[in-house]
Amino acid sequence: WQGFFHGRTLATLAATGQEKYQKPFLPMPEGFKYMPYNDLDAAKASITPETAAIMVEVIQGEGGVIEGTQEYIKGLQDLCKEEKLLLVVDEVQTGIGRTGKWFGYENYGIEPDIITLAKGLGGGIPIGAVISKGKAADVFTPGSHGTTFGGNPLSCSAGLAVIQTLQEDGFLEKVVINGQFLKKGLIKLQQQFPFIKDVRGMGLIVGLELDEKIPGKQIVGLAMEQGFIINCAGNNTLRFVPPLIIKEEEIQKLLEALHEIFSQLL
Ligand SMILES: Cc1ncc(COP(=O)(O)O)c(C=O)c1O
Repeated sequence: WQGFFHGRTLATLAATGQEKYQKPFLPMPEGFKYMPYNDLDAAKASITPETAAIMVEVIQGEGGVIEGTQEYIKGLQDLCKEEKLLLVVDEVQTGIGRTGKWFGYENYGIEPDIITLAKGLGGGIPIGAVISKGKAADVFTPGSHGTTFGGNPLSCSAGLAVIQTLQEDGFLEKVVINGQFLKKGLIKLQQQFPFIKDVRGMGLIVGLELDEKIPGKQIVGLAMEQGFIINCAGNNTLRFVPPLIIKEEEIQKLLEALHEIFSQLL
């Protein structure tokens, strides 16, 4: 299980490297190699004179909220500098305040050449963006690329509203505080329910890994019946990525609902 997920357009499906997603759309564009996560030696060993870039999520979202280690993420940046490669960080899941910082990479003291953004950027309205710097920024100029709905006023207004909200005093700090409250509550559940193997994450991207015998997908359904949208990502991990404006009392209600659901499983 390598847990990469970069999207469902053709090139990003190729980057995702998982057969189940690729199968209906074969053949894939060539040129992608997949390396085990958090394994710097494997990354080093995979580089050839043909290599142009390394793309990574600093926290694997679909993979089950797996955090990149400091050594790995920083090591990838050093490797890219040494080998003159571009470092691309997929921030679709971790960007725009999700980890308590504007971008997930900031938790690692690195500066990627390219980042991708979507999900949180529109606050529910579809929008995506690619941001690049240095040499990578000269590749595209206005008009080099486009889409039918690209740059539409509705999505861009939503994106601006999100950015303005994140800029408000104390907003990101609150994400950290609420994330800690959620994580602490889940750790408390872990102490009560032995089938909870791990609780991990940063800010408001938090995962709770269940023993493989526990039906994670069924728990998602039971939570939905109580009004909570969660999902079951890789490694039988319940993933919590609530709206960043969530309140402590709403998190408390979720924790209570999970306690009730988990009690039925004992
Ligand atoms: C890390 C990451 N990258 C990219 C995407 C974009 O996927 P899609 O092309 O399905 O919108 C996702 C969606 O879940 C994601 O988690």
